[in-house]
Amino acid sequence: MSLEELKQLAIEMMDRAYCPYSGFPVGAALECTDGTVYTGCNIENASYPVGSCAERTAISKAISEGHSKFVRIVIAAKTEEPCVPCGMCRQFMKEFAPDMEVICLNPRGDTSVYKLEELLPYGFDNHFLKHH
Ligand code: THU
Repeated sequence: MSLEELKQLAIEMMDRAYCPYSGFPVGAALECTDGTVYTGCNIENASYPVGSCAERTAISKAISEGHSKFVRIVIAAKTEEPCVPCGMCRQFMKEFAPDMEVICLNPRGDTSVYKLEELLPYGFDNHFLKHH
């Protein structure tokens, strides 16, 4: 899928967001190494901390369908400056795709493009678990 198509999917996914508490819809489109694409939106909850971000929704869908190798993710939000993923999502992404490209998109079409390593330097990973 082209980057433009991936961006379009992320934008469309904002319409699926369940965000009655924040009023802040986020859409995500995740591309796997074999070209499969999973989408996601944020899903909030009356018990606020229970909610999920769009990125984690998309990644959870992929993992549960047997895909765990990712190339890139587009994240769309209606912000002035392209919205970056939260810390929890950065950590969630690192588990599966430490080299993933993260493309943040606003409604004007501006993008900020990062490698996950830039967004989460010195992040925790499972190698620490082997030496405790
Ligand atoms: N949110 C995302 O889905 N992704 C982000 O990258 C930032 C924040 C969601 C969580 C919550 O539903 C709403 O945006 C406001 O924080």
